[in-house]
Amino acid sequence: MEPFDVYPLFDITIDRGAGCHVWDSNGQEYLDLYGGHAVISVGHAHPRYVEAISAQVSKLGFYSNSVQNPLQGKLARRLGKVSGYEDYQLFLINSGAEANENALKLASFHNGRTRILSLEKAFHGRTSLAVEATANPRIIAPVNANRHVTHLPINDIEAWRHELEKGDVCACIVECIQGVGGIRMVQAEFMQQLRRLCDEYDTVLICDEIQCGYGRTGRFFAHQWLNVRPDMITVAKGICNGYPMGGVLISPRFKPVHGQLGTTFGGNHLGCAGALAVLDIIEEERLIDNARDVGDYMQTCLKSLQARNRHIVEVRGRGLMIGIELDMPYQEPRTRLIKEEHIFTGCSGTNTIRLLPPLCMTHEDADRFIASFGKVLS
Ligand SMILES: Cc1ncc(COP(=O)(O)O)c(C=O)c1O
Repeated sequence: MEPFDVYPLFDITIDRGAGCHVWDSNGQEYLDLYGGHAVISVGHAHPRYVEAISAQVSKLGFYSNSVQNPLQGKLARRLGKVSGYEDYQLFLINSGAEANENALKLASFHNGRTRILSLEKAFHGRTSLAVEATANPRIIAPVNANRHVTHLPINDIEAWRHELEKGDVCACIVECIQGVGGIRMVQAEFMQQLRRLCDEYDTVLICDEIQCGYGRTGRFFAHQWLNVRPDMITVAKGICNGYPMGGVLISPRFKPVHGQLGTTFGGNHLGCAGALAVLDIIEEERLIDNARDVGDYMQTCLKSLQARNRHIVEVRGRGLMIGIELDMPYQEPRTRLIKEEHIFTGCSGTNTIRLLPPLCMTHEDADRFIASFGKVLS
């Protein structure tokens, strides 16, 4: 048997990492400004994380959700405190798609409705309702095309009001900075008005913080820049630095019902130990401040490069979530960055380079990228 060939792959085998750097099987070092798609939050192979995971797996890696698991409570309280959501509840699963799936399901149990509003260019995952909420017809199979979702333009509150006024919308799901959609930013005024409309029409407001959350933008959650409190927040990616885990933070107005949601692997001992170590490291190393500081520096450098380089059309983003729109397809500069400069970056759409590095990235890493990027764009 061979792997099912759904991924276009670079001919590179990464076999070790440390901090913001990875090495291939030939020993070549790379600067990692992609973080394995925004997954590596505290840095590759962080000793404290390795120690926590190793200690837990040598004691107990997994036992089912039918018995007490004090680590889940510890993680919920810790995450509540660090994120500013101490009164919320935490449901743990294994991926981002599952987090959105469960949030949408809970919203529908809550108000009995079936319509979802989502943004144009949204990405919420590849399963059932999560993929229907994703604005990409190429990945929605006929079995998933169930007409639950209406996609609406970003920051156009009148378009959203028009649908919400019908009184039949179950939930609005929003990435406050769209990742796959190309680092498109939701504006504070739009989000605050959307919050008010959701309250008025008993619609649940869900923020998908799977890519933009967990400290990446220089605050714990991207929506915290916009001064709103959603009813549910979905997280994954950075929560456990590469170990598969997702979560839904749920407002106290949703009361849990035994058996309504569930999962075999979600919230297992190993994942909780890793996620607790991630929060310790984020706090001790002040990685959220670092994301803001290095992110601001990177944006400043990119804008001054833009003034000298006609290929850069726009620089967007917050903290260490940055999109660089080019006047040409991203393929050639991105491939040259990897092959010649040994720097990994992400991409989006046709012309956008996306930076999603580990939150421990330094000013020196930023300088190296700017020098290399200038070279491949010249
Ligand atoms: C904003 C957002 N939501 C959901 C997902 C889906 O997460 P997963 O691939 O863990 O299912 C992603 C993945 O890229 C994402 O960026």
